[in-house]
Amino acid sequence: MKLFRLFFILLSFPLFAQQGGMWIPSLLEGMNASEMKNLGMKMTAKDIYDVNNASLKDAVPHFNGGCTSEVISNQGLLLTNHHCGYSQIQSHSSLENDYLENGFWAMSLKDELPNPGVTASFMVRIEDVTEQVLEGINEAMSEADKQKKIEENIALVVQTSPKEAWQENRVRTFYEGNQYMLFVVETFKDVRLVGAPPSSIGKFGSDTDNWIWPRHTGDFSLFRIYADKNNRPAEYSADNVPYTPKHFLPISLDGVAENDFTLVFGYPGTTDEYLPSVAIEQVINTVNPARIAIRDAALAIQDKYMRADPQIKIQYASKFARIANYWKKWKGETLGLTKSNAVGIKKQQERALTEQINKKGKQQQYGQLLPKFEEYYTEIEPYALAREYFLETVVRNVELLRLAFQTYQLKQVYENRGAQSFMDRKNNLIESAESHYKDYNKQVDKEVFEALIALYAENVPLQFLPASFQNINATQLANTVYSNSAFVDHNSLKILLEGDAETVIEKLNNDPGFKVAQEMADTYFDKVAPKYEALELNISGLQRDYMKALLELSPKEARIFPNANRTLRVTYGKVAGYSPADAIYYEPVTHLEGVMQKYIPGDYEFDVPQKLIDLYKAKDYGPYGENGKMPVNFIGTNHTTGGNSGSPAIDAHGNLIGLNFDRVWEGTMSDYYYDPALSRNIMVDIRYVLFIMDKYAGATNLIDELKLVHPKKDKKSSKKKK
Ligand code: ARG
Ligand code: ASP
Repeated sequence: MKLFRLFFILLSFPLFAQQGGMWIPSLLEGMNASEMKNLGMKMTAKDIYDVNNASLKDAVPHFNGGCTSEVISNQGLLLTNHHCGYSQIQSHSSLENDYLENGFWAMSLKDELPNPGVTASFMVRIEDVTEQVLEGINEAMSEADKQKKIEENIALVVQTSPKEAWQENRVRTFYEGNQYMLFVVETFKDVRLVGAPPSSIGKFGSDTDNWIWPRHTGDFSLFRIYADKNNRPAEYSADNVPYTPKHFLPISLDGVAENDFTLVFGYPGTTDEYLPSVAIEQVINTVNPARIAIRDAALAIQDKYMRADPQIKIQYASKFARIANYWKKWKGETLGLTKSNAVGIKKQQERALTEQINKKGKQQQYGQLLPKFEEYYTEIEPYALAREYFLETVVRNVELLRLAFQTYQLKQVYENRGAQSFMDRKNNLIESAESHYKDYNKQVDKEVFEALIALYAENVPLQFLPASFQNINATQLANTVYSNSAFVDHNSLKILLEGDAETVIEKLNNDPGFKVAQEMADTYFDKVAPKYEALELNISGLQRDYMKALLELSPKEARIFPNANRTLRVTYGKVAGYSPADAIYYEPVTHLEGVMQKYIPGDYEFDVPQKLIDLYKAKDYGPYGENGKMPVNFIGTNHTTGGNSGSPAIDAHGNLIGLNFDRVWEGTMSDYYYDPALSRNIMVDIRYVLFIMDKYAGATNLIDELKLVHPKKDKKSSKKKK
């Protein structure tokens, strides 16, 4: 009855019909607890987040700043996705010892592999600091002055808020500048690789199946957090010991059924749920098509070489996966935005908001927001396009240009900050270039350069094009650069960077690779960036006021949740299938049968290891199967985004039931518009993880560390007793 009423209210106020939600863990009590209980949750808000006692949040660290992970034993054993640990697994791999291909299992602590630079950060405490951060801000100030003052206030809060010596204070904004929160975090720096299945399990289906349901991927890997003798964060040392967590997640062996409550806890990166319709139109018509076209070209070239040469395949596996991932996501997103009529719905919401503004007599304060959005987005469009081209070409996809661009920034460091900073940064660059060249192939990169420069010359608006690009022969330029530039190999780069700042800069100025990067960057920073940034600043000021209007004018039933911002969030829902088109219905659970149906012997995406085939034929699933079948993946209505990979899927009682790793194709527009009919997150069933660890890999040493529970069976047997 209550749910029905809520539904009715949402229908009658299209303006406020926001679905989905990524919630702040410290505010669940007031905002979500009763809805969560209605969905079946048996925990209290305090079981999830508590400052004074161990709670779920103490088992969920941010993994290396980009993914999520969870602690699953009292010895700091950490579970995350295979694709989150991918570059670590890759960095320990070689043609002789290929852990990507064959998997890796440490059978004792001493076999675990250190990963310098990899971190696991726990969130210790959250506090609202809005008042301190907004102190001294008034409406008469310009956007730039407001920003400056806010930054000063934030620095002060960070400096003066209490914390332990080994902790760190961070302030993040919520609701686009309407609320500010302080986070105290604790970052562990000795995180070792413990286990990974072969890619034929951990990455099964690879890019063909990426963002797709039905899915059959065992996307997990295992690490361990090490601490010093006092259980505190420390740099890597052979003397460090396994970390003892405040809390670790028990694992349920009872599995999931349709409509079961699920909670996903993690670090979603960024979403933009409250953009105006003109911004969404720009994503659909301008931004996404540009990005997709550039990556189409880069990927086709890398793919061709990877298929032909196993060495290149290892070298480019991680880079290719990274580029392909968002390339495919943007395609799905554009389709989903179109199909769900996100623009039309937003327009309708904007009309409703305008009515509300008029009704409440708020024209003075909010009446100009939508017309101003219109104006700024029209003005920014060509700049936004040029910026995408610059970023995708120079910063992201042509390796030589990316490195040359780093030396361009180095040159600026000298001009702005002097010789010492120059030398420090130069040494860092030489060091980081080492791992770059380990995985570099000049021929592949040359072809990518040629293709992307041609696209650049063709599609970047004339007024933003470097002068020499106006009559460019990309093939000729590629030949010149890749035969003469020092950036094509580590030794020649080291020689180029020998000497003091003046000497190095003179050599750089004569390098043909550097010259291309410099001309592109100079043009970009001269003609595109200043205007783009000025407009962006105005747009973000508008967005803050627009958010304020939505918060103020919505009825209290509205679900206005803050956009993702790389802070810990709770999202919840239930296990549910979906119907993407007429007569099609997707069930919510997949099984090992589906792996075998997709099996293509020898294929690099769909091969299956013999041992897994044998286990399947023998139905040797141990305690992990269900009714003679082995569940593999399942989906739910949890609202997730990039960064939620590796997040624990938790049952009604706080036990681990799965591992989040992806979303379904038809619902990937959820970063802009969450459609409850189409948006689903994809999780690995935890029983599949255990089955692979135990039956496939024989890693019983790790299984022994876990706490396995039977919440559903226990409930049944306690009922019988009564
Ligand atoms: N789409 C998932 C996410 O955004 C998984 C990506 C990893 N897999 C891949 N084939 N690239 O990260
Ligand atoms: N695969 C994503 C990640 O790596 C999750 C998502 O975008 O749904 O975080």
